Amino acid sequence: MLAGTLQCGTMAEGDGHRPDEQMPLHEPAMVCQVLRLLEVQPGDAVLDLTVGTAGHALALAGAVGPEGLVVGIDADALAVAGQRLEREAPCPFELYPARFSVARKVAERAGVSGFAAVLADLGVGTHQLMDPSRGFSFDSDAPLDMRYDTSAGPSAREVVNTASEEELADIFYRFGEERYSRQIAARICRERPLETAAELAELVKRVVARRTPRRRTWRIHPATRVMMALRIYVNREFEELEALLEALPDLLERGGRAGIITYHSLEARRVKHTWRRQKRQGLMEELPDSPWMPTDEEVERNPRVRSAQLRVARRP
Ligand SMILES: C[S@@+](CC[C@H](N)C(=O)[O-])C[C@H]1O[C@@H](n2cnc3c(N)ncnc32)[C@H](O)[C@@H]1O
Repeated sequence: MLAGTLQCGTMAEGDGHRPDEQMPLHEPAMVCQVLRLLEVQPGDAVLDLTVGTAGHALALAGAVGPEGLVVGIDADALAVAGQRLEREAPCPFELYPARFSVARKVAERAGVSGFAAVLADLGVGTHQLMDPSRGFSFDSDAPLDMRYDTSAGPSAREVVNTASEEELADIFYRFGEERYSRQIAARICRERPLETAAELAELVKRVVARRTPRRRTWRIHPATRVMMALRIYVNREFEELEALLEALPDLLERGGRAGIITYHSLEARRVKHTWRRQKRQGLMEELPDSPWMPTDEEVERNPRVRSAQLRVARRP
């Protein structure tokens, strides 16, 4: 549901928590490729579906210039993005606390019948990962929450402490492709209640260590897949992505381009398959060279983008 709007140049009020610019800003991924491949031009109206702390939104604002318009949405708080855009954007902007699944309504409210470009930079941002109170990171002693919109749906803590063993195993397998999903679910059910991300991560580490007694170190934290699965589940990320993919042809003007940055194969696959089907239906055409990866230099500077893929399609 639309919870309100933040109109051109006004500050966020009551759109969530932490209007605090001391928190780390998210470094936007693949900015040059995004601007070039979305062919953003001065005067364009563009839609950023994942505003975060406005890294991409500011780059888009610079490209559309004073005659353009940036409309942004995010399920999480928009205050920092609002402050940055107000200070630095050369163009009008409108921010809406909303989810992908209501993007059509947002476009209607903004009075835009078709955007020249739409961007979605999926998943969790550094501004959320690094905020210990959100329970996204392994060492967080805060309650395990993991919701982008903390007013909606059950938190990860509620899921971990109330779902059945079968449901938990299914979540870890379907959304994280976790190899030890059943063993981890069984251990959670024996040891719960669990309160924090750190407790959960430690439990997963113990289960995995028991199964792999010779391993001393891991390339990634052994709880990475379980944490990702819970995050995807509580934020309904795949349902939201599917709703977004279905809405894109309506959000774009003819010839308009959409860019989606994915960070793991489960979401990349959904984008690829939907665009393949939509090509047959004459709704969207993925560009021939898509997807694009970040440059080595960008990965070195910002290792978080190492698994990023930018897919771009146009509305014929
Ligand atoms: C990777 S961050 C984007 C960072 C942003 N591009 C920047 O440069 O600061 C992803 C953002 O998408 C938001 N998000 C994730 N799923 C969403 C959804 N279904 N609807 C709206 N926002 C969503 C998250 O809250 C997060 O702020």
